[in-house]
Amino acid sequence: MSRTASQVFDVVIIGAGAAGMMCGIEAGRRGRRVLILEKARKTGQKILISGGGRCNFTNMFAAPDRFLSQNRHFCKSALRQFTQTDFIRMVEAHSIAYHEKKLGQLFCDGSASQITEMLETACEDVNVAIWCDAGADKVKKKGELFEISVGNQVITTRSVVIASGGLSIPKMGANDFAYRVAAAFDLELATPRPGLVPLTFEMKDMKRFADLAGVSADVDIRCNKTHFRENLLFTHRGLSGPAILQISSFWQLGQSIFIDFLPDLDLESHLKELRRRQPKAQIVKILSEYLASRLIPKLLGTLVSVPEMGNCSDQVIGKIAASLKQVEITPNGSEGYRKAEVTVGGVSTNELSSKTMEAKKAPGLYFIGEAVDVTGFLGGYNFQWAWSSGYVAGQYA
Ligand code: FDA
Repeated sequence: MSRTASQVFDVVIIGAGAAGMMCGIEAGRRGRRVLILEKARKTGQKILISGGGRCNFTNMFAAPDRFLSQNRHFCKSALRQFTQTDFIRMVEAHSIAYHEKKLGQLFCDGSASQITEMLETACEDVNVAIWCDAGADKVKKKGELFEISVGNQVITTRSVVIASGGLSIPKMGANDFAYRVAAAFDLELATPRPGLVPLTFEMKDMKRFADLAGVSADVDIRCNKTHFRENLLFTHRGLSGPAILQISSFWQLGQSIFIDFLPDLDLESHLKELRRRQPKAQIVKILSEYLASRLIPKLLGTLVSVPEMGNCSDQVIGKIAASLKQVEITPNGSEGYRKAEVTVGGVSTNELSSKTMEAKKAPGLYFIGEAVDVTGFLGGYNFQWAWSSGYVAGQYA
């Protein structure tokens, strides 16, 4: 299709990421005349880098309780209208081989580019035009229609779908376009913040845990009332790994996180039992069965020099257990949008219909994907939200 936009489109989608392309496919299937505008030189850039290049494209256990939002019920309708099983069927219909890595997380056996190719082919099959290198500058309402400015062109459309993502990874072009459009139409935002992001140590912990970069542990991690059982990784600046990424979406500046480094062990009872059976045993030796040896003295602190188990009082055993099972850390921040996999917050769900993703105050204007205040846990949930919300808007736009 010529890139001179003299005709009126039925649907213009801004952003050719996961949500935008899924929406395009569905609107195109309905016979709508669809154009997708993409600022970057190619489509689906985040899909291509996701899951270490293999794209964790959904999760077998996707369910509303795996998503954060100011309204935790909002995602239910879209997730029901287009489920993980629907997306898996699509992947299978395109003969893309996949596997479960862990915890229901599904990855391509080959490459993430198989997913972008699948979406591009499906768009082509239903005559959806995709213009790359075509960043939208503004969206305005003109009578019953919308006008979108792209450089010196103005594109006219009956419906417009904002699928331009959130703020994570600015060096890939992430920007606040969706929030600016929301503001122009007087729609509220849930304050955006980085999610699924490494956290950084304050000076005291930086000194305490110096030299541990690269050490990992299987932990139970808690913040407020939420907890996750996953792997934690020490970095040069703080903490990362799936456990930290997961809890980071629930953490706010000033709050502490609590880490249990021995989640499978009732350490206090275990040590009391050892005191009886092996009074000569040394605490460091006992713990080295469970934890990286570099980590043990850092967690024990001065308790590292306690005498053999036989001489430990109940009180000392209690302190040892607490030093490993209730480690309190108060991060002084996160690595920010530079490293965040997602943006928590976004266009407020109060402003949108959960059934269609259309703005209640601005008929014909839709928001989908990461631009909206719905954020999934780590593990393929964010793509599932992109597919589900994109599918839904594609039925109505
Ligand atoms: P997305 O950001 O993908 O797409 C928005 C598009 O809009 C972009 O192509 C952008 O260029 C374009 N755009 C922006 N402004 C524009 C404008 N003004 N005009 C035109 N185009 C514009 N999730 C998951 O479920 N499994 C995983 O394995 C991973 N892995 C992962 C790794 C890394 C490193 C990151 C950063 C993120 C993930 N994620 C993930 C999260 C996942 O990538 C994210 O949730 C989805 O890509 C969101 O899809 P959207 O389509 O909403 O936005």
